[in-house]
Amino acid sequence: MILAVIGIAPAQTDKVKLTIDTSKSGAKIDRNIFGQFAEHLGYGVYEGIWVGPDSKIPNTRGIRNDVVAALKAIRVPNVRWPGGCFADEYHWRNGIGPHRAVTLNPNWGGVVEPNTFGTHEYMDFLDQIGAEAYLSVNVGSGTPQEAAEWLEYLTTIQATTLAKQRAANGHPAPYKIAYLGIGNESWDCGGNMSPDYYLSQLKIYSRFVRNFNPAQQGKDQMLKIAVGPGGNEPRFIEWTESIMKAWQNHQWSWDLQGLSLHNYTVVRWDNKFASVGFGESDYAQILKSTLEMEDLVSKYSGIMDKYDPQKKIALVVDEWGSWYAPLPGSNPGFLVQQNSMRDAILAALNLNIFARHAGRVRMANIAQMINVLQAMIMTDKEKMVLTPTYHVYKMYLPFQDATFVPVNFNAGVYTHEQISLPRVDAIAARDTTGKLWLEITNVDPNHAVDIEVTGIPGKKASGQILTAPKVDSVNSFQSPNTVVPKPVSAKLESGMLTLRLEPKSVTVISVE
Ligand code: AHR
Repeated sequence: MILAVIGIAPAQTDKVKLTIDTSKSGAKIDRNIFGQFAEHLGYGVYEGIWVGPDSKIPNTRGIRNDVVAALKAIRVPNVRWPGGCFADEYHWRNGIGPHRAVTLNPNWGGVVEPNTFGTHEYMDFLDQIGAEAYLSVNVGSGTPQEAAEWLEYLTTIQATTLAKQRAANGHPAPYKIAYLGIGNESWDCGGNMSPDYYLSQLKIYSRFVRNFNPAQQGKDQMLKIAVGPGGNEPRFIEWTESIMKAWQNHQWSWDLQGLSLHNYTVVRWDNKFASVGFGESDYAQILKSTLEMEDLVSKYSGIMDKYDPQKKIALVVDEWGSWYAPLPGSNPGFLVQQNSMRDAILAALNLNIFARHAGRVRMANIAQMINVLQAMIMTDKEKMVLTPTYHVYKMYLPFQDATFVPVNFNAGVYTHEQISLPRVDAIAARDTTGKLWLEITNVDPNHAVDIEVTGIPGKKASGQILTAPKVDSVNSFQSPNTVVPKPVSAKLESGMLTLRLEPKSVTVISVE
C-alpha cells in the first residue's frame, strides 16, 4: 500500500489514479471502530437520550424515540458509559431503584446529577438501539469491591441479594456486558496515578471484577480494557511500555484484552478554535492536527507489537474527535459545539486511519454521541438534527466488519498558507457479502478531483457524496439539510472506474 505522503507529491493535479488489488486482503475492519461515547456531561445524556417517561417528547420508558431511530439507522455497535472523567466519580448504587440519590457532577459544570439515568436505563437504551455495553468502572474514587458488586448485580443468575435487587428493579435476567473499561485517564482526571500505581490497581480490578453471565463464559467473554496513553509525551510511552510489559509476563490471575488511546483534535487547549464561522486557515490547521492520529496509532501499535506480536490486545481509541471552543452563550462545562463539513472530513480521515490499522485497532469511540463535542446528533427540547458526522457514519455502514483491501495511490497535495496535506485519502474493503466498497475523501476545499480507479472487477458502480457549500457549513434546527449525502455518478468500463469528487467531500462507492 502506498499511502499519501506529505510534501513529496507533485503540485496540485486535477487527476488522481488509484489501483485496487482485489486479489489481496487485509484485516477485518471491526464494526466496533464505529462505537460511540455517552458521558454524563452537559446535554449528552439528560435531554440528548433521557427525557423521562412523563415528557411530552415522544419516548419509550423515558428514552427519546427520535434519537433511538436515528442511532438504529447507523447501527451503533457499542456505547461507552458513564464517562469519561465522570466515571471515576460515579457510584452505581445512586442510579438504581425507585429512590435515586441526587449528587453532583463536579467535572462538568458542577451541576446536579439526578441519577435518573442509571444502570437499567442505560441497558434499556442499548437494547432499544441494538448496541453492546461498554461500561467504565470507577477506579479513581471507587473501590474494587464496589465495581465487583456492580458486575455481580448486572450478571449473576444465582439468587444472591444483589441479583434479587436487580430482579426487584425490573430485570430478573442477567445483562450482557461486552466490554469493561478499568478506569479512565488515570494519569490525569482519573486520579493522577503513576504507571506503577495504576498497574497495581489494574491487576486488582482485573482479578475481582468478574462477569458471571453464563452466556459470557466462552468466546463471548467480557473484554477488559486498560487505561492507555493520551498523547505523544514521554510519560505516555512509559505508561504504555509498563502495561504491555507487565501483561506479557502476567500471571493467570489477571488479564486484559484492550488498551485505550485518547486523542482529541484540538490544536491548542487554550483559545480553542471555533466550531462555526471559520475560514480555510482554521480548516487546514484542524485537518493537519487530526492526521496526527496516524502517528499515534503507529507509535503505540509498534510498542504493543513488541510485547504482543500476535495482536491479542486491541488498541481501543475510545475517545477521539474534534474539541472546539464552547458555543457562545453555552455553559463552558457542557462542551457544546457545532459540527460542520470540516468535521465530516475529519471523521472520514480518522476512520480511514483505523481501517488501515484494523489488525490492531479493533474498537474506537467518537466523543461524544449527542450534544457534546463532535456529536452525531444535536437536540433542543423536541427538536433533533443530524450532523455531518452522523452522515459519514451512515455512509460508512458497509465498512462495518468488511475486509480491508489495499488501495495504491499518490494523493497529491493540498496547500494552504504554510500547511500542506495529502489532497486525497481512500480506503477499500469487501463487505460481508463480498461486494467491493471504496471511500475517497477530497480534502481540497477549492478544487474538484477527477478520480480513475483501475483493478475494479464489476459492471456497475453507484454511491453517495457528502459535500457542502462551505467548509464551515452546518446543519441547524432551521436548515437541517445543508450537509446531507446525495447520489454520485460514476462510470465503470473495462475495469476502470471514473468519477469526479467535488471539493471538500466524502464519497462512498460500491461496485457490482
Ligand atoms: O470527552 C470529554 C472528556 O475528555 C472525558 O470525560 C475525559 O476522559 C477526556 O479528558
